[in-house]
Amino acid sequence: MDKQNDQSRMDRIVSLAKRRGFIFQSSEIYGGLNGFWDYGPLGVSLKRNLKECWWHDMVAGHDELATSPGAPEPHEMTGLDCTIIMHPQVWKCSGHFDLFHDWMIDCRESKRRYRYDHLHGRWASHRGKKVFVVTDQSGDEALPHTLTRAQKFFGVRANKLAEIEWEGDLLPLAGNVTLAEALGPDAGEPGTLTEPREFNLMFETRIGALAGDDDDRAFLRPETAQGIFVNFKNVLDTSRVRVPFGIAQIGKSFRNEITPRNFTFRSREFEQMEIEFFCKPADSAAWYRYWRDRRWRWYLDLGLTEGRLQLREHAKDELSHYSVGTADIEYAFPFLAPGEFGELEGIAHRGDFDLRSHMEGKLVRKDGELVVETGDDGKPRHRGSGKDLSYFDDISRERYIPHVIEPSAGADRAVLAFLCDAYHEDEVPDEDGKPRSRTVLKLHPRLAPIKAAILPLVKKDGMPEVAIDLYRKLKPHMACQYDEKGSVGRRYARQDEAGTPWCLTIDGQTLADKTVTLRDRDSLVQSRLPIEECVEILRDKLR
Ligand code: GAP
Repeated sequence: MDKQNDQSRMDRIVSLAKRRGFIFQSSEIYGGLNGFWDYGPLGVSLKRNLKECWWHDMVAGHDELATSPGAPEPHEMTGLDCTIIMHPQVWKCSGHFDLFHDWMIDCRESKRRYRYDHLHGRWASHRGKKVFVVTDQSGDEALPHTLTRAQKFFGVRANKLAEIEWEGDLLPLAGNVTLAEALGPDAGEPGTLTEPREFNLMFETRIGALAGDDDDRAFLRPETAQGIFVNFKNVLDTSRVRVPFGIAQIGKSFRNEITPRNFTFRSREFEQMEIEFFCKPADSAAWYRYWRDRRWRWYLDLGLTEGRLQLREHAKDELSHYSVGTADIEYAFPFLAPGEFGELEGIAHRGDFDLRSHMEGKLVRKDGELVVETGDDGKPRHRGSGKDLSYFDDISRERYIPHVIEPSAGADRAVLAFLCDAYHEDEVPDEDGKPRSRTVLKLHPRLAPIKAAILPLVKKDGMPEVAIDLYRKLKPHMACQYDEKGSVGRRYARQDEAGTPWCLTIDGQTLADKTVTLRDRDSLVQSRLPIEECVEILRDKLR
C-alpha cells in the first residue's frame, strides 16, 4: 500500500512528471522562473484532455432540453473566450484594484520575501536564550525545519538536540509574537523581519508604444470571470439564451503570488475553468446546491479517490461580503500534512454583486446593504459602465438583475490532483513471472494522454506490418502510439508510466488467427480480441 501523504512521494511524482515529459520548470535552461511551468508532450495532452472533458461535460455535451439530476429546471450553457488584458476600469469596479492583495513580509538580512499568513513558528529556549523560531514550510516539513533552525541559532550539536526546550505548538506569526522576538526562516538573528505590507497580486503592464502616464496602466487578468460579466449583455443580445443559463470560459489567469510553491499548485500563471451561471434570485439557493453537487460528482466520475476529496462549506464569517454561500472542493495533496486539504475549485453564490458592480460602480456593504462606495467628494470611488445589465423575462414580464452562481476551477490544480491520485507504485510479474516493481499512472481513460499502445512482439515475421496497419486504423479515433523498441516488458513499463490504459500486442498467434492481446493497465488482465474488432471495442471502452 502506497503511503499517500509524504514529501518523498511528492518528490517522486515531480520527478516522474519531469522524466516523462509531463511538466517542466519554465525557462529551465536559464535556471528556471519561480511560479511558472511548461507542459511537455504528455502533459499538454493530459491538460487538454482535462479541459476538453470539462468543456464537453459542462457545455458542449449539455442537454438543454432535459432537467439535469438535482437541477430545479432545464438550463442552457454557452461559452466565451475573452482577452487577458481588459479595460482597467473592470478591475476597479470588480474590487481587484483595491482589495486583491496579500500581506508580505521581508527579511532585511536574507533579502527573502514571505507571505505573512504562511509564517508560523514555535518558542524555543536554550541556556537562558529564548526565541520564536519561524518557518515558511508547511505540512510535514514545518516542525523539522524549526528544529534545524533552532539548532543552528543556538549552536547545538546534533547529539545534544534534546537540550533545546520547546514551548507549545506551532503558532501563526501574525498576532502572536512581536517581530523583534522572531527568528526569520532564513535569518541568523531575531528581529530581521520587516513590518507586513500589502501587495496587490495583479501583474501590471502598460498599453501602447508611448506608454508612460497612469492612463496607460493595465493588468493581466487575475481571473477569467470578469470577462464573462462584462459580456453578459452581449451574450443576451446576440444569442437566444434565457435565464437560467451559464457562460463558461477556459483561459489563462495571472497572479503575482508572493511565494509560489508546491509544484504547480500555486503558480503565477495558470489556467482557470470558470462558469458564471445566471438565475432568478428566488431560485439561486437551489442552483447553488445543484452546482456544488454537480461539480463534486465531476471529479469523482473522472476517477479521483473519494476519500481524498472534501467538500467544505464556508462558515458565515469566511464568506465574502456579497456571498450567500460558498463551498470548496478540496483534495488531500501529498505535500500537505495528513488531514490537510488544498483547494481545487470554489463554488460561490455571488448574488447580484458582479453585474451591479459593472453597472453602478464598485460596491461595498453598508448596514447590510450593497451600496456604491463613494469618495470624500461623495462621488463613486470607481464609476461603473452605466449600462443596464438587468434581464427582462418576456414570459413572466419581470425585470431583475440575475443572481450568479460561480463554479471556478483551476485546470493546473486539477491536473496536479489527477496526477497525484493516479500515481501508484506496485509489483507486477515480468516476462519470466518474477515480481518487478513498477510505477503506473492509473489515469481515467478520458484523461490519459495516450489511450492505446500498439506493440509488435518482435520486429520481424510480418508483425510490425500488422501492427502499423492496426495503428493507422485506430489513430483517427483516439491518441495511440506505435512502439517496437525494446522488450515487450520494457514497453509495457513505459506505457504504464505514461498512464496508457490499454496495450495491444501483435504476436505469433495474431498471424495465425488474426487476434491480438489486449493488456489492461490496472487489472493486468490479458485477453485476446479479433484484430478487426479492436477499434470498435476500444471506442466503446472510451465512451
Ligand atoms: N473567480 C473566482 C476565483 O478566481 P479563486 O478561488 O481565486 O476564485 C479559483 O480561484 C481556482 O483557480 C482555485 O480553486 C484554483 O484551482 C485556481 N487557482 C487560483 N489561484 C491559483 C494559483 N496561484 N495557481 C494555480 N491555480 C490557482
